[in-house]
Formats: sequence, structure tokens, C-alpha cells
Amino acid sequence: MSNTINRSIKVNKHKVKNRIIMPPVVCFNWTDNDGFEIIDRADHYGKRAKGGTGMIIIESSSISKDVRICDTELGIWKDEHIPQFERIAKSCHDEGAVVIVQLMNAGKKALGKTVYSSSPVEIENKECLEMPIQMIEKVKKDHVAAALRAKKAGLDGIEIHGAHGYLLSQLTSKEVNKRTDSYGGSLDNRLRLSLEIVHEIRQAVGEDFIICYRLGANDPTMEEDKYFAKKLEEAGVDILNVSVGIGADSIVVPEEFKLSAITYMGTVIHQEVNIPVACVFGIREAKEAEYLLENNLIDMVAVGRGLLADPDWTNKAIKGEDINKCYHCRTGCKYHIDGRKCPWYNK
Ligand SMILES: Cc1cc2nc3c(=O)[nH]c(=O)nc-3n(C[C@H](O)[C@H](O)[C@H](O)COP(=O)(O)O)c2cc1C
Repeated sequence: MSNTINRSIKVNKHKVKNRIIMPPVVCFNWTDNDGFEIIDRADHYGKRAKGGTGMIIIESSSISKDVRICDTELGIWKDEHIPQFERIAKSCHDEGAVVIVQLMNAGKKALGKTVYSSSPVEIENKECLEMPIQMIEKVKKDHVAAALRAKKAGLDGIEIHGAHGYLLSQLTSKEVNKRTDSYGGSLDNRLRLSLEIVHEIRQAVGEDFIICYRLGANDPTMEEDKYFAKKLEEAGVDILNVSVGIGADSIVVPEEFKLSAITYMGTVIHQEVNIPVACVFGIREAKEAEYLLENNLIDMVAVGRGLLADPDWTNKAIKGEDINKCYHCRTGCKYHIDGRKCPWYNK
């Protein structure tokens, strides 16, 4: 029995019953071209909640149709999308999990021939333009409207996607952001849009709704991330879910740290703030989560592909039972094509 994993933690005012989070994982090809599920997410996430996972972050869901990463991304850009999140909220709450949804704007990585980013970027077969100020205002409004829909659906909160080179990463990153207005240049300017989004969401949703931020660490340096993490905490973020941003290659991991550089970056941010911090990447076994938690290196551990391979990952980890271990398929995670191709699907 793992009492290390099986300890509750408060996120905002919500009690999360243990330390395992399911991070957002898109179910490619499980949605139609208008943001509606065609494969039941209440069942998909409900199974992971039933399997004991304390907190679930629903896959990236687009806040506007024109900023999707693919044409089968879940939508949260119109009220008609609310019922699909209502069903997920119910299935996860019935099993005692806290559940939030990730809000996404892909920026230069969006579909379409003409896309927008912090600054113009050369992209093959596409035109990528600098976002005018009116569009930045729309990005804020779209985040707020999507967060209100999440609240209406009965979810416990939202996660703002600030990692993996999508729009907010494109603002924070010096590599991409070459703006000369108040959203570019100095570090404070590059962080401005993310912080304004946090402020505006908080004002709209009230105090009890969880705001999580997916921080793309080392974007471009860990020193800047430490400052950013503190600013996010001050702005009203309740939990940081640390992954990778643009340019994470240069990170030096101490020899005694046995897990990945991405996981390590979460542990660095953990030392900087007083809100819960989650780390991620390649955590497949209970003993890896225990190592992080026992040594007080992190507050919560995110298990993505592990939970795809085994919906009961958390209960089994707590009880010390064998887990269906994700194979980390050499050709890439089959969920990138369709989760039904995963060798563990429904096993
Ligand atoms: C198929 C697939 C889809 C993903 N979709 C998202 C997503 O929607 N949003 C996000 O922030 N990260 C996404 N990720 C990254 C995961 O949240 C997680 O950080 C990554 O899988 C590493 O954790 P793991 O080793 O436990 O799987 C995705 C990963 C995979 C494999």
C-alpha cells in the first residue's frame, strides 16, 4: 500500500484524494470536424477516475474553431459543446475525481493556410502573420468564454495551455516573439498575455474554480521560468503542471536525478512557489512516482501514457499491484493516430 501516493492534497478549495494527475492527452480522431466527440469521453475519462486517479485534465480543447491543432480536436468554443463536458464532469465526479479541461490556442501550429503568432514565422506552405492587438484581445475573450463554459458544465476548473510551442509559448519565447509593442521584448512584456488571461479568467469564474497553468519550462531559460512561476502564483493560478516549452535541450540534470530532464524541470519550479506543482514525462511505475513524492521533489505526479495503457494505474500503484506498462512504442504513441490502435486499448 503506497501511503506516499495515497495522500490527499488541496488544489484551490478542492480536495484531491491522491497525488496522481492525468495530464491532457488528445484523443486524435475521436472528434468530428466541429469539436463534438464521436467516441464517448465520459467513458474514457470515467474509467481513469474509477481507476483511482485523483485529478483528471481533459485533453486540449479548442477555444476557437480557427486555432485548432487538428480537425479532430475537441471544441469548447460554443455553448453547444457544453453537454459533452457535463457528461465527463459527472462520470469523473461519480468516481471521486477532480476534473478540469485544458484550453488551447495553437497559434502558428493551427490548421489553415493563414495562421497567427506573436510574430511572423516562416512555415512551409503557410503564411504566419503577427497577431494584431485586436486579435490578442480576442484570445483573452475566447479563454474567458471557454472557462465560463467549463464552469457551466460542472467542471472544477481549467488548464491554460502555456507549453509545447503553442500560442502562449510563442509569446513567452524569445526565439519566436520579436514584437516591439507591450507584448514583446522584455520578459514582463512576453509574460503579459498569459498573466492577463489568468486575471481575466479569475475575475469571471470566481475564487473557487481551479486555474491550472501548463508551464513550458526552459522557455527559453529556467531562471525566467522561476520568475514566471511566481508571477503566475501571484496572479491567482492554483496549480502548475510543468512540461516543456520551446528550447528545452540545454537543461543540465544532476547525476543523482534518475528521471527525465522534463520531470526534473518540474522539480525545479516546485522549489519556487507555494502552490502545488505537478511534473511529468515517462513515469511508468509506482516506484518512480514514490521516489518523487517521498523525497519531497514534487507535490503531484502526472501520468499520461501510463494511464492510457492502464486506466487502473493509480489504484494498482497504491495497492502495489502489477500495472500494464506503456510500451512507449518506438514509432510513437499510437494515440497520435487513434487510441484504439494502442496495444493496451480495452485490455
Ligand atoms: C497522444 C498524445 C496526446 C497529447 N496531447 C496533449 C494535450 O492535449 N495537451 C498537452 O498539454 N499535452 C499533451 N500531450 C503530452 C502529455 O500531456 C504528457 O506531457 C506526455 O505524454 C508525457 O507524459 P507521459 O510520459 O506520462 O505520457 C500528449 C501526449 C500524447 C502521447
